[in-house]
Amino acid sequence: LKKNPASNWSGGMQLLETVVSTQEEAKRLAESGAPEGTAVFAEEQTGGRGRMGRKWHSPRGKGIWMSVVLRPKLPLLMTPQLTLLAGVAVCTAIRQVTGVQAGIKWPNDLLAGGRKICGILLESSLREGGLHYCIAGIGIAVNLTEEDYPDYLRGVGTSLLIQRGGIPVDRSELAGAVLTELEYLYNLYMEQGFKPIRELWESMSVTLGRQIALNTPQGRSEGLAVGLDDNGGLLLEDETGHITNVCSGEIEII
Ligand code: BTN
Repeated sequence: LKKNPASNWSGGMQLLETVVSTQEEAKRLAESGAPEGTAVFAEEQTGGRGRMGRKWHSPRGKGIWMSVVLRPKLPLLMTPQLTLLAGVAVCTAIRQVTGVQAGIKWPNDLLAGGRKICGILLESSLREGGLHYCIAGIGIAVNLTEEDYPDYLRGVGTSLLIQRGGIPVDRSELAGAVLTELEYLYNLYMEQGFKPIRELWESMSVTLGRQIALNTPQGRSEGLAVGLDDNGGLLLEDETGHITNVCSGEIEII
């Protein structure tokens, strides 16, 4: 493991060529005691994973495919807050390094130009009924061209290069900024709780104030996204003024 020069986290960095998924590599390190902040990067993933069992397209050399080990002392119920924290970290780093005005779609997809530019997958491992460690997986479409997208992602995904009119982004610089932001916000969260993270998330959100459709196994519901609850769930207000909390699922901005 190399020391990450941009970070005070005691965990090192591992830069790999081809892996199935950086999530599995980071889990292996976490299981063998890797400290908080240990990060794994891969040039290419052959079995990149997204939320809800989806595949994550991770072509060689075109993106940032990374996973970070976290060891928060938190009740399991509060881990969705970490997902939102990771979204804020990546959104801040993207805006600073690339100038692309990314926004966050609840819970933690980053959009630019109305299309997805980054996805975040937070996976928790339990021990004796409590949280053992978390792996924060981050996939950023950095230098993909339109041709790099398979048919099923055309019109859905975009990249920083596309949003910058063909100007590529230095992946090392962006990756360093993501780790720096993640560490800063994580420390802030541990010291001050969710409030500052929630405020930052709300300021970067493209969801709040919008009409939202939510698809669940129970059916489809619609409402106005009016805020976040204390655990990071989304508050939806229906036409009668009744507010419900949504803790997980996939929303559509309508
Ligand atoms: C999503 O939007 O569905 C989440 C996508 C998460 C992708 C990243 S890429 C690095 C890490 N390794 C994986 O297999 N998935 C995450």
